[in-house]
Amino acid sequence: MAGRFLVSSFLAANLASISASAVPITKRNPYTFVLNNPYGDAIFELGDISYLANTKHPKAILSATCEPSKSTSAIPVTVIKTNVSSISKATLESAIGSYLDGDDVFNTDFLEGLYVSSSVKAKLDASAIEYLASFNTSLVFLDKTVSAKGKFSTISVKNSAELPAGPFLATIGSNSVSLASVYRLYPDTYRTFLFGAYDTNDGEDNHSPLGVFLPKFWDPMIPVPSRIYYWGDERPLAGERVAIKDLYDVKGLQTSGGSQAWAHITPTSNGTAPSVQQILDLGGVVIGKQKLAQFASGANPWEWQDEHYPFNPRGDGWLTCSASSSGGGCSIAAYDWLDYAIGSDTGSSMRRPAAVSGTYGQRPSQGMISLERVLPLGGATDTAGVFSRDPYKWIKFAKAWYSPSLHQDVTVTGLSPLVVPDTDAFPKTILYPVDYLPLNNSAAEPILQEFIDNLARIFNMTVKEFNFTATVQNWTDPVASNFTRLSAATSVINTWSAWDVIGRKLLSTWATLFDGRFPPIDPARRPGWKAFNESVTNQAAYVKAQATKNIGVEWYERELQYSTPESCSESVMLYDIGTGGKPSFRERELNESPDASYLAVLPKTAKITGANICPIFGCADFTIPIGQVPYFSNVTFHEEMVPVTINMVVKRGCDFVLYNMIEKLADEGVLKAVKTGRTAF
Ligand SMILES: *[C@@H]1O[C@H](CO)[C@@H](O)[C@H](O)[C@H]1NC(C)=O
Ligand SMILES: *[C@@H]1O[C@H](CO)[C@@H](O)[C@H](O)[C@H]1NC(C)=O
Ligand SMILES: *[C@@H]1O[C@H](CO)[C@@H](O)[C@H](O)[C@H]1NC(C)=O
Ligand SMILES: *[C@@H]1O[C@H](CO)[C@@H](O)[C@H](O)[C@H]1NC(C)=O
Ligand SMILES: *[C@@H]1O[C@H](CO)[C@@H](O)[C@H](O)[C@H]1NC(C)=O
Ligand SMILES: *[C@@H]1O[C@H](CO)[C@@H](O)[C@H](O)[C@H]1NC(C)=O
Ligand SMILES: *[C@@H]1O[C@H](CO)[C@@H](O)[C@H](O)[C@H]1NC(C)=O
Ligand SMILES: *[C@@H]1O[C@H](CO)[C@@H](O)[C@H](O)[C@H]1NC(C)=O
Ligand SMILES: *[C@@H]1O[C@H](CO)[C@@H](O)[C@H](O)[C@H]1NC(C)=O
Ligand SMILES: *[C@@H]1O[C@H](CO)[C@@H](O)[C@H](O)[C@H]1NC(C)=O
Repeated sequence: MAGRFLVSSFLAANLASISASAVPITKRNPYTFVLNNPYGDAIFELGDISYLANTKHPKAILSATCEPSKSTSAIPVTVIKTNVSSISKATLESAIGSYLDGDDVFNTDFLEGLYVSSSVKAKLDASAIEYLASFNTSLVFLDKTVSAKGKFSTISVKNSAELPAGPFLATIGSNSVSLASVYRLYPDTYRTFLFGAYDTNDGEDNHSPLGVFLPKFWDPMIPVPSRIYYWGDERPLAGERVAIKDLYDVKGLQTSGGSQAWAHITPTSNGTAPSVQQILDLGGVVIGKQKLAQFASGANPWEWQDEHYPFNPRGDGWLTCSASSSGGGCSIAAYDWLDYAIGSDTGSSMRRPAAVSGTYGQRPSQGMISLERVLPLGGATDTAGVFSRDPYKWIKFAKAWYSPSLHQDVTVTGLSPLVVPDTDAFPKTILYPVDYLPLNNSAAEPILQEFIDNLARIFNMTVKEFNFTATVQNWTDPVASNFTRLSAATSVINTWSAWDVIGRKLLSTWATLFDGRFPPIDPARRPGWKAFNESVTNQAAYVKAQATKNIGVEWYERELQYSTPESCSESVMLYDIGTGGKPSFRERELNESPDASYLAVLPKTAKITGANICPIFGCADFTIPIGQVPYFSNVTFHEEMVPVTINMVVKRGCDFVLYNMIEKLADEGVLKAVKTGRTAF
């Protein structure tokens, strides 16, 4: 922990810059205990807001003396750290004001107790005492350095711990005080999570599921810690709240892959996926596990049986979240209290959920990050991505997360080693594939054309229309030019890993447990696993498919998207993985209308969907929100907006150059942060 909490100096700097805006003094809501959750932690309420306090493994236990002795169960307290010698009303008020401005967990209900410390010998002056009285603060904890006298009990803290500032729940013992971290509980109103989770703080790196549900609205509750705990923590993702697709292992939590049958036969994870550990090491906070199409399949909303399909906040609220990282994309479009959601992309599963929710999401270059302890679909086609609303925050996360130390070995990808330069060697050409564009909704194409004009202007690029299908088919290599062969190889890769790691074990274990029965799984997997034939699809076929894929990738990087001395990827190719500006619905029949669209439609003159280009050719493919268009909803019978996004594709390894390009587009105002809720802009 050393060096993580530089709170006092940071806060002091912060306080200096904040003009003490008056904090309104409203009647404090009393502490109301609700229950202990199954993991021994306390759920409580202050007014109509619910909280979790990690009382089983508190943040700090301090030896302390209480005068006069006070026996209470638990008290919400606020920790304030200063470095001034005279602590006045202004000192306290500006700290509290900055807490209210910068955090959604803290509120003045936590002023029943105050823990104040100072880096220098200090005293609470008369104005501070009077100020505390206005909140009816009943208990003041004083560090060795601080003294105070007033109409409150005081607790002298003997060993002041490395305690971050912010709200805590204090429990007072005879000679000690324990301070538990608090989490605000938000209802997952769009039902994008399977369950909320939090750091157990047991010294063994476990997380605990929250296990709390709001019956009135059927919502799981999601715990988010105070952001104040992380102020002054210099790590790139300090305090950022991150939700995890339930394919990734997190120690202490069940990994289900969206299947109750799989959860039934597998133990709680006893380790954390390196890709998730990297987020924790960077300071990120895991707040729960999210829904996915079962085993990362491409199932349509109406094909979900085991889990209830999540809701998309955009438009009429009845739009698809796509698959398979559906929970992730829709949650980022829904909640300001959530910063990032981690998904995975094998065939479209980051990029299409980002498209239908109007958020940023990527399929990185093949091999970008370890997928150890992540349930596979296809070992050599799986990738990991992150959803975000804000281009700068998205890029910051991606650049920190995709560390070279986590690149996959060439034995996993079957490709040449991945090299990821972080330069401004931008592309010179904008490739506009006429077999994939224009956008299907003619009202959306002008938004794309304006984006292309901006791109061409800002980077001095030339637009080149070309036919992707004809170009690939024109290559002289019989393998690289044959979409049928390339697609078949991808299909072997995507089938074998999932069977080898999940399917075989699930079927045999279930049969043993339940008298030969087949497990209850969604139709996306049932027929394929029922008929799985290991003499056709096996490790040897997988290795052969990897070799086929490698041939395709090498041709692609020589003939279509290649490096030059000036550019990491000579071109950026555009296409749309979404619906071209038409709504696509969770309810099947609504997609039959000409003003709506199914997902994953193969364009009339193409051989593969745009989504399949990078799974086959290893390239990097990012979904970028660029606008929105109206439609008249047959659900709300009101005009609604549907997001318009575009996909930007560069040669494998040129991800960071593309991030730098996107950052420049944000600097120029071409790309913007999207809002949560009904509309993205
Ligand atoms: C308090 O901390 C700030 C920021 O580090 C510093 O500028 C200031 O001099 C400090 N004040 C005292 C009294 O130490
Ligand atoms: C303090 O207590 C008094 C008397 O019970 C009450 O009227 C007042 O609203 C309380 N103030 C706060 C901030 O809770
Ligand atoms: C974790 O669980 C696996 C089986 O699920 C087991 O093989 C392994 O030994 C366990 N590791 C630890 C550290 O307990
Ligand atoms: C823009 O690119 C063209 C070549 O496509 C080049 O001739 C021209 O000098 C470039 N302009 C700038 C301002 O870089
Ligand atoms: C692209 O090329 C393919 C193969 O030659 C052809 O069948 C198709 O019609 C072309 N598409 C367009 C839009 O020109
Ligand atoms: C096909 O290859 C030939 C020979 O290299 C070239 O002249 C032609 O332009 C290519 N056609 C397409 C559609 O790429
Ligand atoms: C492409 O590959 C398939 C499957 O291997 C094969 O049947 C077909 O003849 C090939 N097409 C061409 C044009 O070579
Ligand atoms: C599995 O595939 C092999 C080879 O094609 C075939 O001979 C065998 O009959 C298949 N097994 C089943 C159960 O379909
Ligand atoms: C709504 O329903 C009408 C009548 O069936 C249909 O013409 C229209 O295309 C539908 N709108 C959308 C956005 O699906
Ligand atoms: C464009 O929309 C129409 C009407 O929904 C649909 O039939 C067609 O397949 C769509 N094309 C693409 C490429 O999505």
